[in-house]
Amino acid sequence: MDPNVRPDSMERINTPELAQAFIDEQVGAIREQVGDGKVLLALSGGVDSSVVAALIDRAIGENLICVHVNHGLMRKGESEQVIAMFQNQMDANLVYVDATDRFLNLLDGVDEPEKKRKIIGAEFIRVFEEEARKVGDEVDFLAQGTIYPDIVESDGVKAHHNVGGLPDDLQFDLVEPVKLLYKDEVREVGRALGLPEGMVERQPFPGPGLGVRCLGAITRDRLEALREADAILREEFAEAGLAGKVWQYFVVVPDMRATGVRDGVRAYEWPAIIRAVNTVDAMTAEVPEIEWPVLKRITDRILAEVPGICRVTYDLTPKPIGTIEWE
Ligand code: XMP
Repeated sequence: MDPNVRPDSMERINTPELAQAFIDEQVGAIREQVGDGKVLLALSGGVDSSVVAALIDRAIGENLICVHVNHGLMRKGESEQVIAMFQNQMDANLVYVDATDRFLNLLDGVDEPEKKRKIIGAEFIRVFEEEARKVGDEVDFLAQGTIYPDIVESDGVKAHHNVGGLPDDLQFDLVEPVKLLYKDEVREVGRALGLPEGMVERQPFPGPGLGVRCLGAITRDRLEALREADAILREEFAEAGLAGKVWQYFVVVPDMRATGVRDGVRAYEWPAIIRAVNTVDAMTAEVPEIEWPVLKRITDRILAEVPGICRVTYDLTPKPIGTIEWE
């Protein structure tokens, strides 16, 4: 039997009871696989890696070493949430690396989107590799949040993102406890493991993070404006009951300015572009009709609360022709 093929007999995990049964089974399987060995995990704060962290922590406790790299391009509060959950609440073995300055210094003045992506991806691997080397002698296994669509689609993107670039002399066996599960099943397991709803229902977030939404050359002040405006959008969508209904929603801040008037004085500041999409597979996407009062409230709050933003727009472009992200 191919361990990477989901057996037809495998039941869809869609109740707390089935999730609990899966957890019990995997805790046993993980203990059997790793014994007294140590496991290293890159914990991004996304659903998949968070569920894998909680699952392996339950199985082997302090023999799991989680590394969370903050590249400075996380959304507001995300790294803090990872620390609060895994370090403070779960008492897991978490190494937190604030690499903000390293990333932002490397990105200084770089405006070409693919170049930005490459810098972020390569530096991420470098930072993780440094941490892996610090504990490398003790570690025998590398855990990954691979899920079934990653295997089925098998374009290697995820695998590359997670393990690619680790030095050849660091040889780890893989622990991939949710590799036969679909996303909704991973969420069900996350809930049964006691992860907060905000973490379990987290919308997709690109690896390069806010780096692809702070268009052109990233500056710290514009990145901060983007992070604040994005937080307001997420708060208001949650308040309006849209958080679980709209597939992905975020703010983009381009590197251009528009004219406005603030307190009777001419302002020349950035626009904030709201992007919201519904999709099944991210290959095509539609723009949902958001109720006017919700858009109005978001606009009013961004204009009042975020320094440097003097204009708010809602992007009506479907995919195709527009992609979901702007860069
Ligand atoms: P596009 O912009 O191509 O995005 O319509 C489709 C989906 O993929 C996400 N995305 C990324 N995810 N690294 C990632 O991990 C990336 O570089 C990246 N670029 C786009 C995007 O957020 C959307 O959900």
